[in-house]
Amino acid sequence: MVKMPPELAVSLGPLKLAHPIINASGTFDVLEADKILEADLFHDFPFAAYVPKTVTLEPREGNTPPRLYETPAGLLNSIGLANKGIESFIAEDLPRLRELPAPIIASVAGGRTEDYGRCCRLLDAQEEVAAVELNVSCPNVETDGRALGSDPQQTARAAALARQETSKFLIVKLSPNVTDIVAVARAAAGAGADCLSVINTVHGMALDPWSLKPVLGHTTGGLSGPAIKPVALRAVYLVSRELDIPVIGMGGVTTSQDVLEFLAAGATAVAVGTANFRDPLAAARLALGLKELMVERGIGSVAGLIGRAQAPP
Ligand SMILES: Cc1cc2nc3c(=O)[nH]c(=O)nc-3n(C[C@H](O)[C@H](O)[C@H](O)COP(=O)(O)O)c2cc1C
Repeated sequence: MVKMPPELAVSLGPLKLAHPIINASGTFDVLEADKILEADLFHDFPFAAYVPKTVTLEPREGNTPPRLYETPAGLLNSIGLANKGIESFIAEDLPRLRELPAPIIASVAGGRTEDYGRCCRLLDAQEEVAAVELNVSCPNVETDGRALGSDPQQTARAAALARQETSKFLIVKLSPNVTDIVAVARAAAGAGADCLSVINTVHGMALDPWSLKPVLGHTTGGLSGPAIKPVALRAVYLVSRELDIPVIGMGGVTTSQDVLEFLAAGATAVAVGTANFRDPLAAARLALGLKELMVERGIGSVAGLIGRAQAPP
């Protein structure tokens, strides 16, 4: 009997993904990578959907350098959402991104909850944008400067304002820097989010070994990479167990086995972030490896694997 190859295609709401691997916002600039790499990225695109870096209403310079520091098994960053602003993104980047053979998930942030609504209004008119992701890890200038994603009510307000302005597939990206991530997830879903991305970076800092002063210009930053995988896996597991909403899992994904585990924990799609810095073609390797692992373990489809860890043994 001829065995069928495993089915990697999966639906994320209305988005049809050729396989479950996408990129995490801010970790893969396809327009820059296309200039540098020899690979024909626009034709051999490694991701099943593309998430550009987060943009805000106004351009942002970002934080004082240094902004990156490698730690054992992780990367600390304090980029501070440096970006060209949503209008330049729409005018300059989107026309080029529409050539990609994968749906585009635009990512937006703001210091005020109403910024999310205003960004979504601008993006709703762009037909090449398939979905919008709200990055709620931006410091809130209306309150105490903490990320609005650390508060369920602020998260719900941002999601509700975004929902009023767009009928596109709406994703809210959760911060792990909270006591109860399920409460924030519930608030976002209740306010109209269609999907949740889980997780953004984990608060951290590093000291210079000689001066014993903070290494990052901004003093503290966000930790990513393999060091945060168990934190992310737990968050994906809890959120998808408690809520009936698709989840994009991310945090330290580096191997095909990691992809398999995030799917089993409950994710419908899995994003690769920090691993792209070490190997810009990591995602292509992961997709191939995922297929091999599925054959090896007799797993017929990605859809059938989602949430397997949730079932009783
Ligand atoms: C250098 C860097 C820049 C990032 N920029 C963004 C961003 O603009 N928007 C966002 O939502 N997340 C951003 N992130 C967070 C990632 O999208 C991802 O949620 C996080 O890094 C965890 O995944 P990873 O461990 O695979 O990197 C950034 C992460 C890094 C390392």
